[in-house]
Amino acid sequence: MITLEGVSKKYPSGERPAVEEVGLHVEPGEFVAVMGPSGSGKSTLLNLIGGLDVPDQGKISIDGLSLHNLLEKRRTLIRRRKIGYIFQNYKLLPKLNVRENIAFPMSMDRCPREDIQIRVQQLISDLDLEGKEHSFPAELSGGQQQRVAIARALAMQPRVILADEPTGNLDYRRSYEVLEILSRLHRKERLTIVMVTHDLSVAGCAERVLLLEDGCIKSDIRQTEVNLQRALEDFLAKLQT
Ligand SMILES: Nc1ncnc2c1ncn2[C@@H]1O[C@H](COP(=O)(O)OP(=O)(O)OP(=O)(O)O)[C@@H](O)[C@H]1O
Ligand SMILES: [Mg+2]
Repeated sequence: MITLEGVSKKYPSGERPAVEEVGLHVEPGEFVAVMGPSGSGKSTLLNLIGGLDVPDQGKISIDGLSLHNLLEKRRTLIRRRKIGYIFQNYKLLPKLNVRENIAFPMSMDRCPREDIQIRVQQLISDLDLEGKEHSFPAELSGGQQQRVAIARALAMQPRVILADEPTGNLDYRRSYEVLEILSRLHRKERLTIVMVTHDLSVAGCAERVLLLEDGCIKSDIRQTEVNLQRALEDFLAKLQT
């Protein structure tokens, strides 16, 4: 579903690449967590996979389509239709209310008004946002904004979800609910999910965990291969020494 070959990215102001020579293959329906210290390149990697940024080197393809051959316009279309992106800082549109923010990708894609209404209502109910339909992002709590961002990412019923700390600002109960939603989509609809998280228990919900350090994938652990929890604890212990 997602393939990266020798992907590197250096920001103009950076001394060294934020992502360096990354190769990765994610099967359709896989649920992958990405962990690693702050600044290790997790968000950069996700942006590259999502076509929000272009690599300096290497190739990325999503569902068999190579992103590097595409014009910006076509890349935007693929991004909108195939990928649901949950940003680390939400990126809600401040002048649109909750309903309009969630509907935004569907409106941009010129979906029929009735379809938009039905879908948005469903998402508002699924993400427990009833009563907030007409609020603007600035009037919402962090957790509520996060849930609006998740609803928006799901609006187009994408095959791939890229999520950057989707539970970062949620309390335990809400984190659990969000993970339940993602896990359910993964199990029932075989959605491919790549999720950045700092939280070990959140990563524990994935089948596979990538550990990033200095822009490189240092480990790629599958739950079935090893005791995931122990491997992650070892990794974190090493980072702290
Ligand atoms: N837009 C940018 N311009 C210049 N440098 C950047 C930019 N975005 C990120 N970087 C740098 O690239 C490196 C990787 O950043 P990135 O945001 O991918 O890390 P991260 O693993 O997501 O960190 P965090 O856990 O704090 O979100 C860092 O050294 C960061 O300072
Ligand atoms: Mg980040």
